[in-house]
Amino acid sequence: MRPRLPLSPALLLGLLMAIPAASPGTARAQSDDARYPVVPRPWSLEPRDGAFTVGEATRLVVSHPDSASVVAAAEAWARRMRLATGYPLELAAPGAASDGDVVAFLLDPTVNRGPEGYRLEVSADGVEVRAATSAGLFYGAQTLRQLSPAAMERGGRLGDGPPGGWTIPAVAIDDAPRFSWRGLHLDVSRHFFDVAFVKRYIDLMATFKFNRFHWHLTDDQGWRIEIEAYPRLTEVGAWRDGTLLGHYGNRPHTFDGQRYGGYYTQDEIREVVAYAAERHVTIVPEIEMPGHSSAAIAAYPEFGCGEGPVEVAQLWGVFEDIYCPQEETFAFLETVLDEVMGLFPGPWIHIGGDEAPKAQWERSALAQEIIQREGLDGEHGLQSWFIRRIEGHLNAAGRRLIGWDEIVEGGLSPTATLMFWRDWNQAALELAATQGNDIVMTPNSVMYFDHYQADPAGEPVAFGGSSTLEDVYAFEPIPASFDAAAGARVLGAQANLWAEYLTAPWKVEYMAYPRAVALSEVVWSAAEARDWASFQGRLPAILERLDLLGVRYR
Ligand code: ACM
Repeated sequence: MRPRLPLSPALLLGLLMAIPAASPGTARAQSDDARYPVVPRPWSLEPRDGAFTVGEATRLVVSHPDSASVVAAAEAWARRMRLATGYPLELAAPGAASDGDVVAFLLDPTVNRGPEGYRLEVSADGVEVRAATSAGLFYGAQTLRQLSPAAMERGGRLGDGPPGGWTIPAVAIDDAPRFSWRGLHLDVSRHFFDVAFVKRYIDLMATFKFNRFHWHLTDDQGWRIEIEAYPRLTEVGAWRDGTLLGHYGNRPHTFDGQRYGGYYTQDEIREVVAYAAERHVTIVPEIEMPGHSSAAIAAYPEFGCGEGPVEVAQLWGVFEDIYCPQEETFAFLETVLDEVMGLFPGPWIHIGGDEAPKAQWERSALAQEIIQREGLDGEHGLQSWFIRRIEGHLNAAGRRLIGWDEIVEGGLSPTATLMFWRDWNQAALELAATQGNDIVMTPNSVMYFDHYQADPAGEPVAFGGSSTLEDVYAFEPIPASFDAAAGARVLGAQANLWAEYLTAPWKVEYMAYPRAVALSEVVWSAAEARDWASFQGRLPAILERLDLLGVRYR
């Protein structure tokens, strides 16, 4: 069970006092923030005088009209602009780029800004986005979107458009991300969110240049991915006979008695994977093991290690139910993972590994026999052996294992990627840093977006804890204790949205935004470019866009 993190009086006071401080920036910097409200803040932004006006005759140029990903990057801006303006924004031949009155998206291998960087120039004559990759063009398109009038977000024509016309302020931007892992997570086990919502979540995160969607597909309260070889995983495991009412901390626990569930078919998963790929988002699917597996064990009790029957959980928390480490269980898990790898082309497969109580293994003759046979250091050694076996299977298929930081228990595989969440267990972090493992930072103290973002008295019921917008903005992914070599192993950071209390889609967006906007700057922008006053200067324009997109942000 994640520790309850009640708001302390000091924290509450801090929240109440979090009135914006006077900006240390100059008037010029402040006016730049208003004129160029780009989030995350670009690496370099050079203000210019003048503006480009999108009109009836403006054409769209792409350097590679035959490349679906180049066209998709340009369309990420143009589709919305067409809807809002009614202008044709016709696709013109690449040669037209020099004629003026064009918005050009040009793949250019000489743009030396890494696999996701881009350059963007806006002048009175036209707009030019250049990048070495279609990902870079896509991010250039997102920046261009934020520089264009917010009215382009409304999804249709309304009156005559913005009072000053469809203008984009002149500028020269040179941009690339600080981190390669810019993640948001979503738990669809505790509550289920349909394909339409998952797509919307991915679309919105890509707007802020996030590129990793960690899809928490299985847990005690529901198995959410169709596995053809094991149909009971969804026939049985995707449904529970009730859900806890109110907060876990309320006693006694009472339940609603309503059957609840849902799952994604493999066709739906493929649809989401393709949708994400078009937005340069890699999906990291999570299949929990050896713990957090009650739903799977309810479906296939033969792979469990307990004494009694198991049901798909109706309560939150940590359960003793755990997979038993016999050969049949590995055959089952490897078959599941093979189907998962067939659906998700990305390099990482998340296997959970967190919060796996060892009580059933302590009592199980079979588990004890394996500990003896393999000469393992007790149940923690067994956990490590379990995870390494699974890692071997993933590696043989050319994939990489990522797990929560409990995968250090009994020894951390040198090739696993560690997702650090337990702030209180710095030893896990230090071990990974010393060993040279890749690390993704998702510390519970600030990256858990199921925690409150303001005084709970005025908020929907949430898990507990506190992580304000300013806390998120101030988060530094590279621990202060890390030397340069260890710092280089930090791939980036991610916010987690656990869904025990996210009972409806609007609550997901309420918890995610605007905190995810702050996080986007943490993971994309240079550390020295981060400036709370400047962020606050740019945020209102971002919120105006979110309003037009119908996002129920806090
Ligand atoms: C976790 O919060 N159990 C990763």
